[in-house]
Amino acid sequence: MITEKINKSDIDITKLPKHVAIIMDGNGRWAKKRGLPRHFGHQEGMNRVIDIVEATKDIGIKYLTLYAFSTENWKRPKVEIDALMNLLVLFIRRELQRLVTNGVKLNILGDWSVLPDLPQKEINRAIEATKDNSDMVLNIALNYGGRQEISRAVKLILEDHLRGNIDVDVIGEDTISQYLYTNGQPDPDLIIRPSGELRLSNFLTYQSAYSEFWFSDILWPDFDKTQLYRAIFDYQKRDRRFGGI
Ligand code: IPE
Ligand code: IPE
Ligand code: MG
Repeated sequence: MITEKINKSDIDITKLPKHVAIIMDGNGRWAKKRGLPRHFGHQEGMNRVIDIVEATKDIGIKYLTLYAFSTENWKRPKVEIDALMNLLVLFIRRELQRLVTNGVKLNILGDWSVLPDLPQKEINRAIEATKDNSDMVLNIALNYGGRQEISRAVKLILEDHLRGNIDVDVIGEDTISQYLYTNGQPDPDLIIRPSGELRLSNFLTYQSAYSEFWFSDILWPDFDKTQLYRAIFDYQKRDRRFGGI
């Protein structure tokens, strides 16, 4: 059992991960524990997001990815999906100004063209309002699935090939990276999953080949910056060999 508390000053700023990704899981269980409907958990989870964005930026990390809705989450009851979409709209309306003030550029991973009109409209507005920011990139994964992303990349590469824009001979690992939603970004160094589940759930399938993983039993609505500091502190003690010795 870990008892010592990690502070921001414990983090070695010379060994920061470039890209941190978080699977925001455990909202439903958080609500259930309190005898509340699931959407209360989602609401409380949404309330944590801006603080974690600001804490990440404050540490000096340049890329943060948050998994908000997977391609598999459409299996949930319509009322829950509607609640999640409404919270997305609410998040942008409430926090866009803070993203702008913090110099955060918003980017969406996933096919958000199939979301309801209102979330799409708000996302467009947020992307436009943050497009010139360069202090940090915030990726929100929405209707995102790692396998969908890879199959989409294959299609895009084939289309470019048929148009005569890309030769079969030059297609390599980097080519695939360039056709993913994260084109131009470093792969996640650290992937954090609260809630006690020990799986990726179709998150960053291609990009996570050499990521370090940090799991915790804490539920996302209880996740605060001390957990973020702890995850980064633990990450900095790992020996990343990338197949070397
Ligand atoms: C994560 O919390 C939020 C989304 C998947 C949108 P869950 O809703 O999965 O919470 P649990 O796993 O049921 O506790
Ligand atoms: C992963 O959580 C997706 C998000 C957090 C958005 P899930 O709760 O959907 O994952 P599973 O179903 O437990 O694998
Ligand atoms: Mg879950």
